[in-house]
Amino acid sequence: MANHALASVATRLGARGYGIWRAWLRAKGFGILFLARASGRTPPKVISSLPAEKVANDVAILKDKIPDQSHAMTDVDYHFSNLWFAAHANNWPLATFYWNESISHMKWAVRIIPVRKDAAGQEIKLGDILQAIENSPYMQIGKTIEAKDLAEFEKAYRFTLDGCYSCHKAADKPYLRPHIPERPASSMINFDPHADWPK
Ligand code: HEC
Repeated sequence: MANHALASVATRLGARGYGIWRAWLRAKGFGILFLARASGRTPPKVISSLPAEKVANDVAILKDKIPDQSHAMTDVDYHFSNLWFAAHANNWPLATFYWNESISHMKWAVRIIPVRKDAAGQEIKLGDILQAIENSPYMQIGKTIEAKDLAEFEKAYRFTLDGCYSCHKAADKPYLRPHIPERPASSMINFDPHADWPK
């Protein structure tokens, strides 16, 4: 907790509540160093010094809880598969949603592991590959959705699958070969833009 946050909690608690709260924090083993406690209504001044060891330990625990890259990619699989069916149902708002989700989950996957090594031990910057895919004139799926142009959408979708695969190959995973999905990944979402239930 940052110092100012501690001070503001203390202000809200008042002198008595603050004493109880401080005892509670001590009992919980927080390494808090209380410098001074002003009397009356003045908020007490507090600084915290969590031991570096504890912070490092907490960071390790949090890192352990972050989903791995494969998890983020499974989400891309889900969104990108649904995208194909949303477009074919002429449900362009839904297609826009799935395309945005596909992009944001690819970005997330890259944030999880930005650099991988190929078989030759060379560093591969995944962000650069994703950027190339985003900038490629052939892969402008977003524009084809805006134009509601199914034929162009299909072309851009196929080119993007090429892009997906180029990154899998670069990351030394050529066995992750995508294809046009046979069925939507979601059995829950209604792709029909004219559906009238639930209201
Ligand atoms: C920037 C690089 C990059 C791009 C672009 C990319 N992927 Fe991936 N993808 C990976 C990596 C790396 C893995 C392996 C992750 C692992 O092993 O933890 C992976 C794994 C996968 C998996 C397997 C997940 C699993 O665990 O079962 C699927 C499915 C997948 N990607 C789909 C796609 C699709 C679809 C696209 C394009 C719309 C795409 N990926 C674009 C890098 C990329």
